[in-house]
Amino acid sequence: MESSALLKEGYLRRFKVAGRDLLLVQSAGVTRLIENRCPHDGSPLAKGRLLQGCLRCPKHGISFLLDSGQPLGGDVVSEVGPLISFELLEQDGRLGISIDDV
Ligand code: FES
Repeated sequence: MESSALLKEGYLRRFKVAGRDLLLVQSAGVTRLIENRCPHDGSPLAKGRLLQGCLRCPKHGISFLLDSGQPLGGDVVSEVGPLISFELLEQDGRLGISIDDV
């Protein structure tokens, strides 16, 4: 999917794997592969903003912690689920995903 050497702070790139729309992101030392779909209302997250370990959805502005996937905002977002994330695998400096997980 991607060389791990290319990852750096603020990295955000969209990938399609087995028909699934995914984002590979890195912020505040956290690297995550997540579904390109906001848990709030299904909007794509590819144009979201990464800041201090959070990804902010461009549609309504909810921020999600990358390390847990949980939304920030207390009661306002109490019914919003977490980001859907996938385990990243690394082999010979390349990042990938188990197709069984997709
Ligand atoms: S769709 Fe992402 S915050 Fe509403």
